[in-house]
Amino acid sequence: MSTPQGPTLRELAVQALSSVEHGYDLLADKFDATSFRTSDRLLEAVTRTLEPLGPFDTGLDVCCGTGAGLGVLRSVCAGRVTGVDFSAGMLAGARRAHPDADLVRADALALPFAPAFDLAVSFGAFGHFLPDDQRTLFSQVHSSLRPGGTFAFPLPAPPAVGSRSYWALWGFDAAMRVRNAVRRPPFVMYYRTFRLTDVRTRLEEAGFGVSLVPVEPLGRREDGSPRCRLVVARKGGARF
Ligand SMILES: C[S@@+](CC[C@H](N)C(=O)[O-])C[C@H]1O[C@@H](n2cnc3c(N)ncnc32)[C@H](O)[C@@H]1O
Repeated sequence: MSTPQGPTLRELAVQALSSVEHGYDLLADKFDATSFRTSDRLLEAVTRTLEPLGPFDTGLDVCCGTGAGLGVLRSVCAGRVTGVDFSAGMLAGARRAHPDADLVRADALALPFAPAFDLAVSFGAFGHFLPDDQRTLFSQVHSSLRPGGTFAFPLPAPPAVGSRSYWALWGFDAAMRVRNAVRRPPFVMYYRTFRLTDVRTRLEEAGFGVSLVPVEPLGRREDGSPRCRLVVARKGGARF
């Protein structure tokens, strides 16, 4: 999960024993050296997949962290780009990496925006939102988009049941549930609470029309299905 420049195991443990917001403040300076930061390979692949769906004007990166998705927005949006996150430490990293972006400190469950954006993206943050909060998050993003605006995010195919990755994610979620049963404040971070069928239903309940676009640069699995899909949710219901 970490490189020699990244946090030590002890630092990661202290982070996981904090609230989500404070935990990211503690991790912020070393975050880009962890595997929690979305990889450049995925960001590049999403950029290639988004390009033909544009043009886009203004862009919003929801839970932007140190700004991984701001570079994607910069590539596909002609207008201003904005990042929103509730961790001041992570926003400071985003400010260093993207001095020209607008950065806003706010809870994604109470976004402070008028319906001003053409495109919203989000990377690597949905595990922090339990199902009810996902509904709130999606309706907050919906309210921040102009009519016809697009909310897009990558959703990797789940690992095969019984595979090593399957058990790794299962074990991580189980450890988090034990941690949250015995310790306050909770650190909400689960890998297995964001399944395509549920996500699609929750997006549609929020007023989006949903399409799935294969992220072709990331290739296909042995059965021919894409390794990763871009979920493309359109405000107003129209589909790509
Ligand atoms: C794993 S990091 C991902 C950061 C970045 N998007 C990336 O892909 O590298 C998750 C981010 O979500 C933010 N976050 C989690 N819950 C949030 C909430 N309710 N409101 C705003 N930001 C939130 C955290 O502060 C953190 O910066």
